Amino acid sequence: MPRASRTRIGQVAALLADLDAEQGRAVALAPMAGITDLPFRRLALGLGTPVVVSEMVASAEMVVGGVQARARAALGLGCAATVVQIAGRDPQVMAEAARRVADLGAGVIDINMGCPARKVTGGAAGSGLLRDPDRALRIIEAVAGAVAVPVTLKTRLGWDDDCATVAPLLDRAVAAGVARVTLHGRTRCAFYTGHADWAAVGRRTAGLAVPVLVNGDIDGVAAARAALAASGAAGVMVGRAARGRPWLPGQIAAALAGRPVPAAPTGGALVDLVAGHHAAMLAFYGRDLGLRVARKHLGWYADAAGVPAALRSALLTAGSEGEVHALLPRAFAASERHAA
Ligand SMILES: Cc1cc2nc3c(=O)[nH]c(=O)nc-3n(C[C@H](O)[C@H](O)[C@H](O)COP(=O)(O)O)c2cc1C
Repeated sequence: MPRASRTRIGQVAALLADLDAEQGRAVALAPMAGITDLPFRRLALGLGTPVVVSEMVASAEMVVGGVQARARAALGLGCAATVVQIAGRDPQVMAEAARRVADLGAGVIDINMGCPARKVTGGAAGSGLLRDPDRALRIIEAVAGAVAVPVTLKTRLGWDDDCATVAPLLDRAVAAGVARVTLHGRTRCAFYTGHADWAAVGRRTAGLAVPVLVNGDIDGVAAARAALAASGAAGVMVGRAARGRPWLPGQIAAALAGRPVPAAPTGGALVDLVAGHHAAMLAFYGRDLGLRVARKHLGWYADAAGVPAALRSALLTAGSEGEVHALLPRAFAASERHAA
């Protein structure tokens, strides 16, 4: 490995270790397109999530200054712990996108090598790169060479059950400058079926010279502890379980750090939280788009809190901010009685 790469890996690994030491055991909110936008990431950070990851930002769109790409990469004040994830297939375009994202202030840049969606893998991006390790490596080298901030990688166990290429690819990725690896314990072909194989994450990453985050089906403190024990990873990444429960990664982080675990908000505190999130979404997207984007979050909050079907449906069909806000106390007060 060239001396420059070794020095760089040492520096970025130290940066990430400092970040983790400041914030307790590494617990990250997973990148989720259409979900981990700036309002959601801010909320999760405020509720104690140590690290948040943006939705994936299409590199080609970023380099032409696309409004959507810039919105996905938006950081806002107090968001230094934000990892911005970029996706694409062209090393030079990925490098340029990384530069632009770093200029916006991203603390860490993550390369998407895990997205299973056909429109992404069809273009040999996301987990499609698992079938083209040489291209994957050229992308990693180009991105790591383009920016001074740490570069991380998120991927899956492999393309299909024949996962033999992944461990060597991870070794090469680390040699090229990747400072942390997140591994979702499923193959690309498994999509979201079955259960994430945390032990397989451990086998694929054994001996890797950088910290690993284990990902997949972590839905609480017990699952986080089990995933860490099975994989030997340094930390966890939590995705779908945080929908409607933005406090969950913060609770897991507190538990793993041996701190008292903050209670999940209920009743009036939950109403305030949902109302604040709703207002933030409308401010970020504008009124009309904001109301539409907010509906899925209202549905997840309602599901997580066990809101009765009629009230849930009223919340999701409300046509104005005022209507939503008027319904929230009834919806979530009822859910508390329902839960009890
Ligand atoms: C709606 C949705 C969008 C996602 N978008 C991304 C993405 O942009 N980038 C990425 O690397 N993974 C993405 N993922 C995958 C998650 O980051 C995570 O790896 C996966 O959901 C498994 O973790 P979980 O079981 O905790 O949800 C997405 C998942 C979902 C459900």
